[in-house]
Amino acid sequence: MRIDILAVIPEMLEGPLNNSIIKKAQESGTATIKIHSLRNYSDNKHNRIDDYAYSAGAGMVLRVEPVYKAISDLKSQRTYDEIIYTSPDGEVFNQQQANQLSTYDNIIILCGHYKGIDQRIRDHLITKEISIGDYVLTGGELAAAIITDSVIRLLPGAMGDETSALTDSFQDGLLAPPVYTRPADFNGWKVPDVLLSGNDAAVEEWKMQQALERTKKLRPDLLDDLDQNN
Ligand code: ADE
Repeated sequence: MRIDILAVIPEMLEGPLNNSIIKKAQESGTATIKIHSLRNYSDNKHNRIDDYAYSAGAGMVLRVEPVYKAISDLKSQRTYDEIIYTSPDGEVFNQQQANQLSTYDNIIILCGHYKGIDQRIRDHLITKEISIGDYVLTGGELAAAIITDSVIRLLPGAMGDETSALTDSFQDGLLAPPVYTRPADFNGWKVPDVLLSGNDAAVEEWKMQQALERTKKLRPDLLDDLDQNN
């Protein structure tokens, strides 16, 4: 899978996307992530990519031309399944959307700009708007990093243990059960006996019951969603 990210501040993406599992996925060829600076597509000599809004007091707005140039350049090289814009106005991101995006070959993510982007970009170039939650960030770069991280880790081969992405919280609509490692007893804080029993069926049953209990206590809304979908 290939993800092209168009950013005003590319430096904000470089750290998050160049470490651990996401770095390895790129090194192994499972994923290609290209971060593009929108300033490289500026058509004016000061590399300005924003301009005053037509309405007074609205602040600086990302201009159409550099975004159009960047997207046209990418589209001339390959076909894109989705051109995403990160914005608090978008559909709120969740695991189902991450799963869906992970099935695509190529996507573009345009990072939002703090005072907005010219509406014509949204009307004519963007195919999907995504919000990472009901709060406002300074720009869309961190949102793009979060979307990219959650999608890339789902790709076959991205994680060492092929099954672990499937046992994530949310993947079956429930929170994940707790996990433990050695020692079995730390100053009297004990690992539940069932996990030491060697009885696989009992362990599976315990995990499912824990997942249900935790979800009921911490995120009862997820159980309502499950009821509605079944
Ligand atoms: N840009 C600013 N706030 C955002 C949010 N909550 N989600 C996605 N992009 C954003």
